[in-house]
Amino acid sequence: MLQVWIDGDLVPAGEARVSVYDRGFRLGEGVFETFRAYGGHVFRRDAHLARAVRGASFLGFELDVDELARAVSRTAEANLPAHDGADSVVRLTATPGRLDPEAPFPGRPVGGPTVVVTSHPLALDPRVHRDGVTATSVPWARELPDVKAVSYLAATVAREHARARGADEALLTDADGAVLEGSGSNVFAVLAGVLVTPPASAGLLAGVTREVVLEVARAQGRQVEERSFAVAELTGADEAFLTATTREVMPLVRVDDVPVGDGRPGPVTAALHEGYRAEVRREAAAAG
Ligand SMILES: Cc1ncc(COP(=O)(O)O)c(C=O)c1O
Repeated sequence: MLQVWIDGDLVPAGEARVSVYDRGFRLGEGVFETFRAYGGHVFRRDAHLARAVRGASFLGFELDVDELARAVSRTAEANLPAHDGADSVVRLTATPGRLDPEAPFPGRPVGGPTVVVTSHPLALDPRVHRDGVTATSVPWARELPDVKAVSYLAATVAREHARARGADEALLTDADGAVLEGSGSNVFAVLAGVLVTPPASAGLLAGVTREVVLEVARAQGRQVEERSFAVAELTGADEAFLTATTREVMPLVRVDDVPVGDGRPGPVTAALHEGYRAEVRREAAAAG
């Protein structure tokens, strides 16, 4: 049976409860992280946790990184048998906590942050990496883009908008039409042989996967540039791809019904994905 981490301990999934007075539930205050566990190994756990702690601090509450690390690793380990040892998705949700129902409205949270960690089976459609994914651009950005906040409406509405148009992902663009990020991914293009991705300063979530891909690209001796580009430049690219923790590196083959390059997954994407997977294996082996 799946176990959930809540209030400092693991409990059976059906028994985990969050208060109706929780500020995360009431106001969408809080941060989340999605990790991929490769077997029992949670890849780049500490980079995800650092982002969660930074985001919480921006939202005005403090998280104990050691407690989060224990919560994430113990949840991944405890659920390994339930996933038959396969890769899984671990999700951390942390909010400022709950209000005292007796205190004058609106009040401050009492009793410390709410920290919940859940574990889910990872469902991977083999077509994503074999054939690539498609995207539709949407003319809006996420609020507080560098915080992975529990309130994620700009992203989830964009994704539904894209799916309703038959695309896999939405590409959020700014007021000038520059591509920012996917609803749950970062965007890369290969432009005249140079690997280009929008800079974190453009207003996006600087993904953990994005960072690993940049490391891998530099280690492979590739020219890398962080700069903005428009949708038209993206579709005119040699090739493009999206990055996200659960799906790693995904070829991006069509945007707004226009093929990217020749409309097929490209060789740079494949080489970077291979390098990414090698880094996952290296880190898991080093962790024992
Ligand atoms: C809006 C947004 N951008 C980028 C990403 C990619 O981040 P990461 O590589 O850390 O999963 C995500 C992941 O969920 C996201 O939600």
